[in-house]
Amino acid sequence: MTNNPGFNTLAVHAGAQPDPTTGARATPIYQTTAFVFNDADHAAALFGLQQFGNIYTRIMNPTQAVLEERVAALEGGTAALAVSSGHAAQLIVFHTLMQSGDNFVAAKRLYGGSINQFGNAFKSFDWQVRWADPADPASFEAQIDARTKAIFIESLANPGGTFVDIAAISAVAKKHGLPLIVDNTMASPYLIRPLEHGADIVVHSLTKFMGGHGNSMGGVIVDGGTFDWSKSGKYPMLSAPRPEYAGMVLHATFGNFAFAIACRVLGLRDFGPAISPFNAFLILTGIETLPLRMQRHCDNALAVAKWLKNHDKVAWVSYGGLESDPNHALQQRYSPKGAGAVFTFGVKGGYESGKALVQNLKLFSHLANIGDTRSLVIHPASTTHRQLTEEQQIAAGAGPDVVRLSIGIEDAADIIADLEQALASA
Ligand SMILES: Cc1ncc(COP(=O)(O)O)c(C=O)c1O
Repeated sequence: MTNNPGFNTLAVHAGAQPDPTTGARATPIYQTTAFVFNDADHAAALFGLQQFGNIYTRIMNPTQAVLEERVAALEGGTAALAVSSGHAAQLIVFHTLMQSGDNFVAAKRLYGGSINQFGNAFKSFDWQVRWADPADPASFEAQIDARTKAIFIESLANPGGTFVDIAAISAVAKKHGLPLIVDNTMASPYLIRPLEHGADIVVHSLTKFMGGHGNSMGGVIVDGGTFDWSKSGKYPMLSAPRPEYAGMVLHATFGNFAFAIACRVLGLRDFGPAISPFNAFLILTGIETLPLRMQRHCDNALAVAKWLKNHDKVAWVSYGGLESDPNHALQQRYSPKGAGAVFTFGVKGGYESGKALVQNLKLFSHLANIGDTRSLVIHPASTTHRQLTEEQQIAAGAGPDVVRLSIGIEDAADIIADLEQALASA
């Protein structure tokens, strides 16, 4: 590779090289649980974090390592940690930042599963979430107090497909000495690189556009390397001596990739949601075509959104790529290559018509996922956002009449023809 490879080159090559033993060109699936130590001193150095190396696949594995290096390169971070799902990534990030009684401020427009994880599951750890309006950076500031440890947003919100002013929210985080965590699942680094706009940590569900083929679960945490974990004393996992590692202070020892290390050696090691080497391999293979797929997803989605907007059975379309959309200026600023593949619209006739439309589609698959090569459809209010109150559903962009599409990479004409026949009979 050149000294400063472009995004397409990194997507294919970053982190990988021919296997030193066999010459295999594709990254091998290191399907092994454990790794043989050179000798007793080597084993002790690995366990004591004095030397990097493979011990056990729950903590680290060479196939996972290539995936981590590739995603870190694509996002412009210092290091990354791959885990078994997007939700596992979020759990490990917050475990590294929070202690019981702490809180964080999150955008209320998020994937429904994240709203559940933050609002319900995290209660067991006594971690409190406070909701803010992603369109109003001041609403984040209003929620911050002495026990606030982080701010969390999605760069492009699921399901509404709305963009967020990352730099404005980062300014609030910086003013209060807090890390900004950005879920970049819906945009992928092809469209948006949140670290360039002031984020400190990026998380992904690799299950979606990064893997891209609807065949494997994964998540990742990317360390931006910019946050000073020792300044405030609010992040003892990083700034205080760790009893597990003979009093080692992780930030002092690992510097600008200490957060990724802490997530690995204190979170992944102890909670255990490791990604399987096979899934890491599939996601790595998917990432090689990320730029090609993402552009086709965006081009198709724009064509479909324009077509829907002019359809007389459609009440409204929310897609930042449409010039008439209130999000268009933010989309042009943060994601000029396209507005993503996922957006929502309302069918006239509300809940029942929306359900009938979903029922009539043939090329689209009716399921709970996004970011597949195939076009997908779901009615969020009765599925992904079902556990929320109606008020929360509306706040999350998933009200009763909302249909969510994840536009695939098929021919746009075929996608539109399927919607046309389904709307005709809805
Ligand atoms: C934006 C976003 N973040 C996180 C997740 C959770 O990821 P996973 O399903 O891989 O746990 C999802 C899942 O749909 C998502 O859409």
